[in-house]
Amino acid sequence: MLIKKPADIPPSEITSPALYARRREFLKSAAALGAAAIWSPLEPLRAADDDLKPTPYKDITAYNNFVELGPGKTAPAQYGGNLRAKPWTVAVEGHCEKPGQFGLEDFLKPHQPEERIYRLRCVETWSMVVPWLGVPLNQILPRFKPTSDAKYVEFTTLLDPARMPGQKTRLLDWPYVEGLRMDEAMHPLTLLATGLYGKELPDQNGAPLRLVVPWKYGFKSIKSIVKIRFADKQPRTTWNLEAPDEYGFYANVNPAVDHPRWSQKRERRIGDFFKRDTVLFNGYGDQVAGLYAGMDLRKQF
Ligand code: MTE
Repeated sequence: MLIKKPADIPPSEITSPALYARRREFLKSAAALGAAAIWSPLEPLRAADDDLKPTPYKDITAYNNFVELGPGKTAPAQYGGNLRAKPWTVAVEGHCEKPGQFGLEDFLKPHQPEERIYRLRCVETWSMVVPWLGVPLNQILPRFKPTSDAKYVEFTTLLDPARMPGQKTRLLDWPYVEGLRMDEAMHPLTLLATGLYGKELPDQNGAPLRLVVPWKYGFKSIKSIVKIRFADKQPRTTWNLEAPDEYGFYANVNPAVDHPRWSQKRERRIGDFFKRDTVLFNGYGDQVAGLYAGMDLRKQF
């Protein structure tokens, strides 16, 4: 996903190939008409109310990061399709009174997935708006009765190279792992998603169960979860293990903290031509800033 230097990333990788092609066409015709004079006055006219306009289904499901299904943005959609070959089990472990193995339906029971339209900001500086279907994690976790030692929650993705061809490579140290502090996990915005656009989650988006933490960079939103562990210490996380100087445990969207190899000040919403300013906590600051009171978010990035 993120190991390339900016100069190595072709524009075609920063957005979907179809959009890229359309932009190329637009650029060509705009250039013919005297581009600069035409574009710049348009930017302030970008509708402010498009902030939560859902990105088209085809873009959300064709432009993905899911290294287990393949590198690059199009491989996950291409090599998905086999994740739900078996019934799905979620193991709950660690510091809790009621650990166990649960079939997916039992794990979610009695909660019905609800729709939540969230912005998602990827560390690679693209963003989208996704109408998720999911159950807030804070409705699910209390059932397992976490003890006072449960300070963090660790999540683990399925490890099965037969169903996830990317795991036959050494692109990452498998299985993918992520973690949240307990208060982040229990925040009402934190979702366990089971679908999008009213349908079941496609494999490439993390079927059948993925985390969504909308105020953090996309890599925190771990896909195809098979294990949840209540931990007393900060869990290891895949991208932090891979490149600790580049990807912190907190990974809060923060335009003031650049990635060491590129700026995080602006982002390109999939489907937009112009970039827009990135907002602290991805625009969810009113709800989540209090979680980080007193912390230096430049050090704990
Ligand atoms: N989860 C797993 N297991 N493997 C991954 O490679 N990629 C992450 C995250 N969750 C990833 C993952 C990254 S970098 C991003 S930006 C989001 O998934 C992308 O989610 P999307 O493809 O649904 O947009």
